Amino acid sequence: MSRISLNNHLYESGVSDELRHLINDISRAGKYIHNAIRTTDLGLAGSSNTFGEEQLKLDVLSNDIVKEELKESRLVCCYASEEESSEMTELLSDAPFTVVFDPLDGSSLLDCNLAIGSIFGIYESKGKLMGKTPRDQVAALYLVYGPRTILVYSTGKGVHAFYLNEVGEFTLLEKNLTMKDEVKTYAPGNLRAVVDTPSYRTMMNLWLDEGLTLRYSGGMVPDIHHMLIKGAGIFTNIGGSKYPKGKLRLLYECGPFAYIMEQAGGASSDGTKSVLDVEITDLDQRTPIITGAKKEVKRVSKVLNE
Ligand code: AHG
Ligand code: MN
Ligand code: MN
Repeated sequence: MSRISLNNHLYESGVSDELRHLINDISRAGKYIHNAIRTTDLGLAGSSNTFGEEQLKLDVLSNDIVKEELKESRLVCCYASEEESSEMTELLSDAPFTVVFDPLDGSSLLDCNLAIGSIFGIYESKGKLMGKTPRDQVAALYLVYGPRTILVYSTGKGVHAFYLNEVGEFTLLEKNLTMKDEVKTYAPGNLRAVVDTPSYRTMMNLWLDEGLTLRYSGGMVPDIHHMLIKGAGIFTNIGGSKYPKGKLRLLYECGPFAYIMEQAGGASSDGTKSVLDVEITDLDQRTPIITGAKKEVKRVSKVLNE
């Protein structure tokens, strides 16, 4: 039988038992979110998150699902979520891991039935993240809920993709996702920034002149997943006047993806250095991000700095 389960893959890769259990527990949260997306009403929850963004019932429910699984795992000391107040929540003081997550990224795309996702970063520091960087993550993973539900993880030993099969198990789809140094597609986020960041417009014009294909859905998870599966491409979300540091969050969105992208042989940058080296000073901090094929990340950073 050639089927390889997520648990078996983690085991065979020599991931520690504790981290393997935690990733399995997070994957279970993913299954419940997968189900919730299909069965829960899409309306507003009547609340907003710490960024002042209106929450959908599904944002709140997905957050509750993840919280429950983290609690039940008994492996998580503390967590911070994009959908909660900007504080760490303690679950079990002497447990080994700190988990940061965006339970449902891109939820404004839900009513249009476009793909959305969940993003997780795992640290070992007991709730103390200030002064650390996303390079301190010991694992990162995301789930993309599209026509199929797919989970992609890295524990620092390559990047591996699994699909949720018909009996509810994550089964290996592709191991060692690898980024080539090739760019045929571009995914330019926070594009309104071209108005006050002329170098972003310059970059856009270069891509248009070079005949690149636009692949932008408005969801960071499917947009970056697209690049990882094709092994090529470039994704940007950079600053302008409305969002001086771009729209995306270091802890919940950019950090985990930078970890995964660099593990796949791609690169990430905030314009000057790897996103993995951006110091965490605030749970809610935003950061510009340029990520994808290595050479292109370098070129974009250069053009943006001119
Ligand atoms: P969230 O749903 O958590 O608020 O995040 C949506 C994000 C991200 O998925 C996407 O890349 C970005 O918003 C899109 O921004 P623009 O529409 O400004 O390009
Ligand atoms: Mn988000
Ligand atoms: Mn969100």
